[in-house]
Amino acid sequence: MSFSQSKVVAITNHKGGCGKTTTIINLAAEFGRMGFRVLVIDMDPQANASLHIGTTHPSRVDFTCAELLLGEPSSLPHAIHEQTHLEGVSLIYGSLSLGKTEDELKDVTPRPSEELRSKLEPADGVYDIILIDCPPSLKLLTSNAMAAATHIIVPVESGSQYGLYGADDLLKHVAKIRRINPKVMLLGALLLKHDERQTVCKLLETTATRTFGQILPVKISASTKVNQAAVMQQSVHCLDRTSKVAREFRRLATGLIDTLGLKMPVGGTQ
Ligand SMILES: Nc1ncnc2c1ncn2[C@@H]1O[C@H](COP(=O)(O)OP(=O)(O)O)[C@@H](O)[C@H]1O
Ligand SMILES: [Mg+2]
Repeated sequence: MSFSQSKVVAITNHKGGCGKTTTIINLAAEFGRMGFRVLVIDMDPQANASLHIGTTHPSRVDFTCAELLLGEPSSLPHAIHEQTHLEGVSLIYGSLSLGKTEDELKDVTPRPSEELRSKLEPADGVYDIILIDCPPSLKLLTSNAMAAATHIIVPVESGSQYGLYGADDLLKHVAKIRRINPKVMLLGALLLKHDERQTVCKLLETTATRTFGQILPVKISASTKVNQAAVMQQSVHCLDRTSKVAREFRRLATGLIDTLGLKMPVGGTQ
């Protein structure tokens, strides 16, 4: 099975701290504001996305992504929490026990990489866009996210000379996933913490374009607003809609509408 109506975007890079969760939160906020039906899936045992937009602490949530992966085929409705800090955005919580789930999956199913995709099947068409936040590894949880995805975005920390370390392994992993998800599209690298004036950022942009074939046209600047928004459990748009970084996330989301082939919802605004 692959998704025919919903767009499923895995935001993945096994390097920690490159901006995966930040991208998830701010894209979800933008799409939600535009009137799209959005689902965020937190596949990271550290559950940062859940801490950011969830209304309950992940440790107190009974049915998380871990229970979904190991549960009955029809368990999806139990995992979806419609109330979050973001308008129009539902959440499947992450949980510390996802680490254990990753080990157990191999024993409970013959196709351990395809469990998320099969559990999400009933969501096809219910949500316009499903965003999957990945852990900082290339193991089974990430494979599940990539196998369920229609598109993959790779956030890259632009200001770090090690920003592309491991990119070859990531690309090899995508190639492997294509055996079970042949249609998945790699949209390329998304540069975050970018500063055009810095030589390291300019060099990284050139190398990222060469490595991934393309980068997303909008680059996200370094801004202290990103951390401030996280502390306040908000998007950068809610914190300061006129800030440069808020406008960049809006342009990124608007551009993705076309790239992903989304149709503007009736009554929605960009
Ligand atoms: N554009 C940005 N400007 C400044 N800080 C950022 C930016 N994007 C992310 N950060 C910060 O970098 C850290 C790592 O980001 P995060 O999204 O949690 O990465 P990951 O999910 O890949 O581990 C966080 O403290 C976050 O607030
Ligand atoms: Mg994260």
